[in-house]
Amino acid sequence: MDSFVIKGGKTLKGQISVSGAKNATLPILAATMLADGAFRLTNVPYLNDIKMMVFILRYLGAKIDFYDNTIEIDTAGINSWEAPYEMVSKMRASINVLGPLLARFGEAKVSLPGGCAIGPRPVDLHLKAMAALGATVSVEHGYVLARGKHLKGAEITFEKVSVGATENVLCAAVLAKGTTLLHNCAKEPEVTSLVDFLIAMGADIQGCGTSDLVVTGVTKLHAVDYPMIPDRIEAGTFLIAGAITGSALTVTDCHPSHLTSLLEHLRQAGCTIDVEPDSMHIHPLHRILPVDVITRPYPEFPTDLQAQFMALMTLAQGTSRIEETIFPDRFMHVAELNRLDASIGMDKHIAIIDGVQQLSGAQVMATDLRASAALVLAGLAARGGTTISRIYHIDRGYDRIERKLQLVGADIRRIKG
Ligand code: EPZ
Repeated sequence: MDSFVIKGGKTLKGQISVSGAKNATLPILAATMLADGAFRLTNVPYLNDIKMMVFILRYLGAKIDFYDNTIEIDTAGINSWEAPYEMVSKMRASINVLGPLLARFGEAKVSLPGGCAIGPRPVDLHLKAMAALGATVSVEHGYVLARGKHLKGAEITFEKVSVGATENVLCAAVLAKGTTLLHNCAKEPEVTSLVDFLIAMGADIQGCGTSDLVVTGVTKLHAVDYPMIPDRIEAGTFLIAGAITGSALTVTDCHPSHLTSLLEHLRQAGCTIDVEPDSMHIHPLHRILPVDVITRPYPEFPTDLQAQFMALMTLAQGTSRIEETIFPDRFMHVAELNRLDASIGMDKHIAIIDGVQQLSGAQVMATDLRASAALVLAGLAARGGTTISRIYHIDRGYDRIERKLQLVGADIRRIKG
């Protein structure tokens, strides 16, 4: 297993570019199964999670070329509706194939994803929504079985805002008979980009960008070419890298409008950030002020930036509190940050961070995707050397992060395991 070796204390300088959004690409890849034809997806990030979804679609019969951040996929040959455990257990977002397979074949057999380091990852909202559209849904021997040759439009209110459930039911509803009213939908930019993609394929969806969507079923959809939106979590991670190292850094090829809550919290922490339509420039930050955070669905503070912001708060001049309301167990990074001499205590699902003068390098272990990003940020600021093991976690969601950071002056090396 590869690891990173970081020599901290260096300021960064220059421009760092953002790749396409992992969490926009995954549901769009699954949604290509709703039509037969040749799609061309561009600005696709080169990530292990994307390669996993490509593997699953190939297994189901699609012909796929993945090169130079472009995916060419021909879905005409898709002839299987079963996504096996060996694949789904490796990447829980594979549950997103459920809706498209059900809509395409009238049946789907998808392994239950199981939990991960950030907590149990239930799919009850996905299953209830499929059943509301008239599918017969059961769970047997660790698999979801859904059958429904003629899905019918329905009115569905999600008990909880769920990105994946909103995406899955959208894919089932676009080919259902009649109209589907969806309430309390997730409004993350990745959901909006899926709605936009489905409309480009010929779907009839009203309310894009709001929590109330109206889907009028159509009989057929067609293949399209489509560019992925920039990854707002990668963009936010790099902005925090600039803040924690006291650097002047420009983050390019991004949508600052997708990061309003992070920008607000960073400005409260003392940052000066200039924003252009597709880039952000952070000025050197010399005194980090403590800022409290509560994670919530978009457009509030994103759970996927909680660990990274915590890394910054470890060096604040005062105490801050970070409450995680989406994934209450998402604190595996606390123990690892404390190994770097941070001072973080826990009170249920609230982290209390007493800022310290200086972090010091140590050996730490990546536990999940965003926790590993937080450790990289802390390592960039820590005095001395930091070694981060198990960085396969970070390769799931960041496209060659060490290369991008080296280009702006970070002393970070990948050691092949
Ligand atoms: C998506 O996961 C993202 N993944 C996650 O990013 C992100 O953290 C999360 O949304 C929240 O923004 C992808 O898009 C591939 P949810 P998802 O359904 O869809 C509960 C990353 O780092 N829930 O919005 O699985 C759930 O337990 C990853 O890139 C149910 O109770 O998240 C959580 O508490 C990590 N029942 C809350 O809803 C369900 O059926 C929100 O989860 C589904 C979810």
